[in-house]
Amino acid sequence: MKKISKTIIIVASFIAVVVLMSFVIDSEMPTIKNASTKDSIASVKAFHEVYKVLMSPRCMNCHPSGDIPLQGDDSHAHAMLPKRGVDGKGVYAMKCGNCHQSANTEGPGRPPGAPNWHLPPANMRMVFQGKSAHDLAKQIANPQTNGNKNVKQLLAHADDSLVKWGWEPGEGRTLPPLTYNEFKKAWITWIENGAYAPGK
Ligand code: HEC
Ligand code: HEC
Repeated sequence: MKKISKTIIIVASFIAVVVLMSFVIDSEMPTIKNASTKDSIASVKAFHEVYKVLMSPRCMNCHPSGDIPLQGDDSHAHAMLPKRGVDGKGVYAMKCGNCHQSANTEGPGRPPGAPNWHLPPANMRMVFQGKSAHDLAKQIANPQTNGNKNVKQLLAHADDSLVKWGWEPGEGRTLPPLTYNEFKKAWITWIENGAYAPGK
């Protein structure tokens, strides 16, 4: 009798642990299934979709090859040439936050906004402009060039407020070529399958 109740306790606590663990795993990665699957073909295919978004003006305008942000669908140099600065937030009187608020300012030609509007910092410029799909995939997958992001942080970057702003850019600005959900799906597929880079 004693032995049976002991067995029941052991079995019950084992079940409890398993149930608890599945909750932990679930809450960490709710949208991802088969996290261990690696498929280079699916990964590269997904990155080609991601790349279309990265190179669209809403994203590229904050990822310029120089130290001045870009504006408009033709990605021309930002009026009054505000500079990146060490932290990406501008210099002297031309701080991004002076004009860019935490939300879009109403009306055409008015400053767009999202929390903490700025460029990547000078020591990790995260350039998209002019980069091939091969080079950009390598850059983004590498913690030494992506802002020290591990896989989990990289996945979470799809929910970054500056990224999400791309789909709510304010009056007169076109949207990226994929919907947000299509982008996020391609982003996760690319990373979960090993974050492979397309060939040169
Ligand atoms: C003096 C005010 C001012 C400052 C300072 C300023 N901006 Fe702007 N910015 C604007 C205005 C106004 C617009 C909208 C222009 C338009 O749509 O015609 C704009 C547009 C932009 C856009 C274009 C968005 C798009 O997709 O078309 C980006 C990117 C941008 N700013 C980044 C920055 C960054 C980064 C900084 C700091 C380094 C900065 N701006 C500093 C006023 C400013
Ligand atoms: C207002 C400027 C701004 C806009 C607009 C913006 N980004 Fe960024 N992006 C940044 C900053 C700043 C960082 C660096 C901060 C960080 O690492 O979290 C960054 C980092 C990134 C990174 C890591 C880059 C790398 O080279 O490893 C990716 C990927 C990215 N952004 C994607 C996007 C996408 C996709 C869009 C458009 C839908 C977008 N960004 C729009 C400012 C911007």
